Amino acid sequence: MNKIYSASTTAPVNIATLKYWGKRDTTLNLPTNSSISVTLSQDDLRTLTTASCSKSFTEDTLWLNGSKEDITGSKRLLACFRELRELRRGVEAADSAALPMSEFKLHLVSENNFPTAAGLASSAAGLAALVRAIADLYELPQDATELSKIARQGSGSACRSLFGGYVAWEMGSSPDGSDSKAVQIAPVEHWPEMRACILVVSADKKDTSSTAGMQVTVNTSPLFAHRINNVVPQRFELMKKSILDRDFAQFAQLTMQDSNSFHAVCLDSTPPIFYMNDISRAAIRAVDEINRLAGQTVAAYTFDAGPNAVIYYLKENAQVVLGPLKAALKSQDGWASASAIKPEVPTSFESRW
Ligand code: ADP
Ligand code: DP6
Ligand code: CO
Repeated sequence: MNKIYSASTTAPVNIATLKYWGKRDTTLNLPTNSSISVTLSQDDLRTLTTASCSKSFTEDTLWLNGSKEDITGSKRLLACFRELRELRRGVEAADSAALPMSEFKLHLVSENNFPTAAGLASSAAGLAALVRAIADLYELPQDATELSKIARQGSGSACRSLFGGYVAWEMGSSPDGSDSKAVQIAPVEHWPEMRACILVVSADKKDTSSTAGMQVTVNTSPLFAHRINNVVPQRFELMKKSILDRDFAQFAQLTMQDSNSFHAVCLDSTPPIFYMNDISRAAIRAVDEINRLAGQTVAAYTFDAGPNAVIYYLKENAQVVLGPLKAALKSQDGWASASAIKPEVPTSFESRW
């Protein structure tokens, strides 16, 4: 009997406050812009992945949420396997006692405890967990930033889920992607009062995947060039500063503007891409009203590639934000389909890595 070796890990979701939307290189998964996100607590939304390898395994497999996935055509997943095996070969070359795991087939078993492919960043948590689990199995010495370059090739947003707190994905300029990586802007302790509320409007799989949607935008939206050249570079610097200064009003305004800019380029695509729905728009109006009544910006909405809202606010404003938000959305006709409002998800994920 051949022995089976395995390692398990969890990875959290991150929700972008400055969105990645567009690839300049689809093979290496290099983005058209740098992005920023907040990593959420893994007590609430997380992926759990176990990576195993054995001489007796006959093929690489991925079981996702209980179903076997067909990964034979998944070039991006296969690129992650290839790069991780390459790093494992380095471990084997340096230590003659190390098992030749790079030659063994891999079995991955993964589970998301939240809706998959519904615009809640399952590909981010999923690919971060996958890369981390294999890196642990292989006992790789590389740090989170090095691994982020591999996770990026699996799913762009995944590179940011290798860090806790406030994270930037620097787009880089090198054609080989060697400087397109995630870095931590600040750890969670820097701004521990930050909270996120997740409004699950729909747990359904989205019609247009992020991968497909962003390339439609790159290829067809006249507004997109304006976003990339004239809007995002300045916004990236301003948002970083707002985090370092703990300036919530500025952080919130930039976050809402960027969500709207991203959904505007989706609408400007041909055919147009609609990720938000009537309930999403009701959430936007509710947040605007909450801020107006508070006389200051106490809440920020953002929507990824799906209808589900994430609302950022500071702990001290929980009542001011969550009470009216719940009341406003309950009076919407569509509320019945908004399955859950999950308040107070602390953004308190501690990086283990
Ligand atoms: P989301 O908004 O949820 O990130 P995407 O369209 O970006 O949606 O990606 C969804 C895809 O990500 C899934 O169809 C699957 O291929 C992949 N994915 C999601 N979760 C996992 C996971 N735990 N392990 C591996 N791949 C995953
Ligand atoms: C709207 O990272 O899911 O969530 O790289 O093709 O896997 P691929 O795309 P993905 O795109 C995320 C888009 C977004 C914004 C963001 O997370 O920055
Ligand atoms: Co995704």
